[in-house]
Amino acid sequence: MTKVRAAITAVGKYLPDYILTNKELETMVETNDEWITTRTGIKERRILKDEGKGTSYLAIKSAEDLISKSNLDPKEIELVILCTATPDMQAASTGAYVASEIGAVNAFSFDLESACSSFLYGMSVAAGYIESGRYKKILLIGADKNSSMIDYTDRATCIIFGDGAGAVLIEPTTDGNGLQDELLRTDGSGREFLKVPAGGSVLPATEETVKNRLHFARQDGQTVFKNAVFNMADVSEKIVERNNLKYEDIDWLAAHQANKRIVEATARRIKLDPSKVMLNIKNYGNTTSATLPLLLADYESQLKKGDNVIFAAFGGGFSWGSIYFKWCYNS
Ligand code: UT7
Repeated sequence: MTKVRAAITAVGKYLPDYILTNKELETMVETNDEWITTRTGIKERRILKDEGKGTSYLAIKSAEDLISKSNLDPKEIELVILCTATPDMQAASTGAYVASEIGAVNAFSFDLESACSSFLYGMSVAAGYIESGRYKKILLIGADKNSSMIDYTDRATCIIFGDGAGAVLIEPTTDGNGLQDELLRTDGSGREFLKVPAGGSVLPATEETVKNRLHFARQDGQTVFKNAVFNMADVSEKIVERNNLKYEDIDWLAAHQANKRIVEATARRIKLDPSKVMLNIKNYGNTTSATLPLLLADYESQLKKGDNVIFAAFGGGFSWGSIYFKWCYNS
């Protein structure tokens, strides 16, 4: 019997209009364009400024982009997985709201949170449902309004993050393309190095936590950087080797856009020519759950059916992993 695999059959994206440039950041914190560009590769990021709009707004817009591009009838969607580290609010599923708003009235939905690895893990979860035959049309969305947890007086974090969303449609295929293999990892000892300390169940909001700015993201950049370089490169190399891929067989690296230097280090480890490395960090910064689908949306016209794509991500927790995927269509 031909194996059923999870194919990506459509992509969509959304970025808010407001552009926060390095120049503007220079007026907010002690930094400069040269430092940000050489240390991270980022020139600008998008920010959702409209009051009262959260991550769901970004997610809905990216899903609507996919729906209009692919002529998908939202009533056919069976499951909506919303990957995010910045849900609209606690306790109420953001995914449920997104599914209703896009007209996916026959779908159920849930949120999936694993920091910057959320979308990569979402691909794995969606693929499991598809391969089992349980569902045939899954909308997988990666969306984050990072500006909601960024301290714009902290130059160590505010230069990195941006807001955005991307969506992919996942359906079964028996043509040999789709998700081939995955290698996913976590290490909870890393949680001290990248987190929003307060507002969760360990340290609920009090006047004190607000006063001490504990509801903003904090990171030990160097420790996160070292772990990201080592681990993302490690799993990418392992997945290439265990699938007997020659380095020249790899067409693309789609790696989480946290820092251009981390992506380049991963590419070097799997001996990949820079022309095969997807990059858009320059324009969007780190959009957490949205980086991978935004890469797919931006490179869609260059991707060819059967292309070998290595996905990789690393994020808070720590969480990381790599997926070997064969691209499914020509656009
Ligand atoms: O997506 C999830 C995972 N997140 C990541 O992967 C992020 C990983 N970390 C990084 O990308 C990098 O560590 C950063 C971009 C956050 C920082 O770059 P770095 O090369 O590790 O810089 P650093 O923290 O070692 O700081 C070097 C210097 C320090 O000054 P001194 O002590 O050498 O005088 C910092 O105070 O740069 C200073 N610095 C800055 N200078 C100008 C730190 N932030 C800034 C800034 N502008 N924004």
